[in-house]
Amino acid sequence: MFNKIIPYALSLLLPLVFGVTHADDSLFSAKLYAKFQAKSCTNCHDFYEKAKNGLSITTHASRLDVNNCTSCHTPDVTGLEHSSEWFAQPGLYTSGMDAKATCEKTKETLHAEFKSKALLARQIETHLLSDVRVLWGIEGATPKSGNLPFKKKEADMVKGGMDEWKEQVAAWINGGMKCE
Ligand code: HEC
Ligand code: HEC
Repeated sequence: MFNKIIPYALSLLLPLVFGVTHADDSLFSAKLYAKFQAKSCTNCHDFYEKAKNGLSITTHASRLDVNNCTSCHTPDVTGLEHSSEWFAQPGLYTSGMDAKATCEKTKETLHAEFKSKALLARQIETHLLSDVRVLWGIEGATPKSGNLPFKKKEADMVKGGMDEWKEQVAAWINGGMKCE
């Protein structure tokens, strides 16, 4: 009798367990946080941050002319149609922030407090799914994602490709963009 009850009990429990995991995907900490913290994103977001020892202080100290970034980060390298979009600025979310801080900083930078949830959701969605720099940071999103000058390549990319990224962004946005 038990060898019937156990599989039966499992068949009831498993969907429950997976159901719960699925619901958690609406939390920023569930899947997106780790991806936001990939070096392909944070190396650029940290660029001018002294506290993070950003590239402007380390490898790029002699390459700081903002009109000259694209002499190396050419469209041929980055795949960006408008090469001038390859730029960095301070004040973004940075490496090492925890999930809550990463999420809150993102909203703050986008001036969330002055926008309805609907407008914010639309802008965040557009940014995350079509910003050329975000796409550059996602493995396989474009043929040149991750490519750097002098045939170098960013090793720590956002893994899982565009389909997974889209699903996870949608789960978080549809769940109300919670910073938990
Ligand atoms: C002389 C060529 C050159 C110039 C000019 C240059 N870079 Fe770079 N950049 C590189 C190279 C090469 C790398 C790969 C890492 C390294 O060797 O420094 C890189 C890496 C980067 C990365 C790291 C990407 C990642 O995820 O690893 C960012 C961000 C970046 N550069 C931004 C800029 C910005 C912004 C400017 C202009 C202010 C600029 N670069 C100017 C050559 C250049
Ligand atoms: C080449 C540099 C660069 C790369 C690579 C990059 N970003 Fe950004 N990001 C920026 C700049 C500059 C801004 C602010 C200006 C803008 O939004 O156009 C920004 C803004 C953002 C914002 C909104 C405000 C905030 O506080 O962050 C988010 C969210 C974001 N990026 C996510 C990402 C993610 C996720 C990745 C990696 C998959 C990524 N970015 C890769 C340069 C970069």
